[in-house]
Amino acid sequence: MIELSVILPTYNECTNLSIIVEKLLVLLEDYSFEIIVVDDNSEDGTWQLAKSLSEQHQNIHLIRRIHRKGLTSAIIEGFLLGSGKYLVVMDADMQHDMRLIPEMIKEMSEYDLVIGSRYLQQKSVPGWNRWRQWTSRLGTELASRFLKQKVTDPLSGFFMLKHSLIHKIAPKLYTEGFKILLDILLKSPDLKIKEIPFEFGVRLHGASKLSTKVIFDFIDLLISQTFLARFSLQFIHYSIIGVSGVAVHFLVLYLLYIQWQWFYPLSLMIAIEIALISNYIWNNQWTFAKQRFLKTEWWTGFLRYNAACSLGSFYNLAIGWYLVSQEVSWILASAFGIWVGISWNYLANKAFTWKQ
Ligand code: GDD
Ligand code: MN
Repeated sequence: MIELSVILPTYNECTNLSIIVEKLLVLLEDYSFEIIVVDDNSEDGTWQLAKSLSEQHQNIHLIRRIHRKGLTSAIIEGFLLGSGKYLVVMDADMQHDMRLIPEMIKEMSEYDLVIGSRYLQQKSVPGWNRWRQWTSRLGTELASRFLKQKVTDPLSGFFMLKHSLIHKIAPKLYTEGFKILLDILLKSPDLKIKEIPFEFGVRLHGASKLSTKVIFDFIDLLISQTFLARFSLQFIHYSIIGVSGVAVHFLVLYLLYIQWQWFYPLSLMIAIEIALISNYIWNNQWTFAKQRFLKTEWWTGFLRYNAACSLGSFYNLAIGWYLVSQEVSWILASAFGIWVGISWNYLANKAFTWKQ
């Protein structure tokens, strides 16, 4: 058995890859090791480069994935292929200090998992803008609340793990997003963990692939952890957006009906439609992201959505209007209308708008 497998997930890292591989070959000269590049069919020649490297060196391998994307699933596939006693993953852009690897290997005799931590010795990452700094801190803070053991950097992308664990853990892992380490910590809370500090470097070439989708995936991971899969994520998303829609509904209604004293049914109708539009936008972005509508489809989808919701909206309006005419308070009347409307809409949209 070889000692170490280095997993390098790549997406458009052509210039960086040749540099990092060259440095790894020198650094790890005295070890038995392999490098596994997991590339999602980059357009910039990354996989071609990795392929030719794998032809020159017996210990370099490439997994070229087609029609599949995502950092976490790439790392999992790399881990599963790895034959080293230890598995380490790092960014292929030189942001992770590879000089930590020998130290990590040493620690592996005592620990199951060794993490390269950005926050063990310092509170912030030099060179990051405020927004990135802040989201990373907030994410770390939030994530820590779900963990049994204290870890300063549960979102690190640089860590080493015992091979013997991976086949047990891998089937339980969530495959979207960037947060594989956090997920490993959540799913196997009893690992013996060591953190080693390092300074997160500046990306050599190219741009970061971290996007807002990654942030939403992170929220999902925390949601599914909280609800322990008792509800489908889709239903939870739909409900969260539903609650935001109720807020929008009441805000508009309050403005039109109370502030500007418009006719109640007219105010209600406008409130219903604006809440519908807001819900449509968010559901399309989040709840039904896998079947998301774009461009012209967005508009036909929107029409279908309105059609699906029309009966629910009608009940909503009729009930609200009737109750208010019976002197029921406008808040109670509207709330009751919404409740009936929502129940109808969920079923109608599932069956009709975003059908699979
Ligand atoms: N195969 C594959 N598929 N690789 C990917 C993908 C993908 O969809 N997305 C990103 N990568 C590769 C990149 O090419 C890079 O080598 C590594 O994964 C990390 O991506 P970066 O774009 O460099 O991420 P970052 O530096 O902004 O984010 C860092 O911090 C995160 C936490 O804040 C990384 O260290 C992340 O691993 C870490 O989770
Ligand atoms: Mn990076």
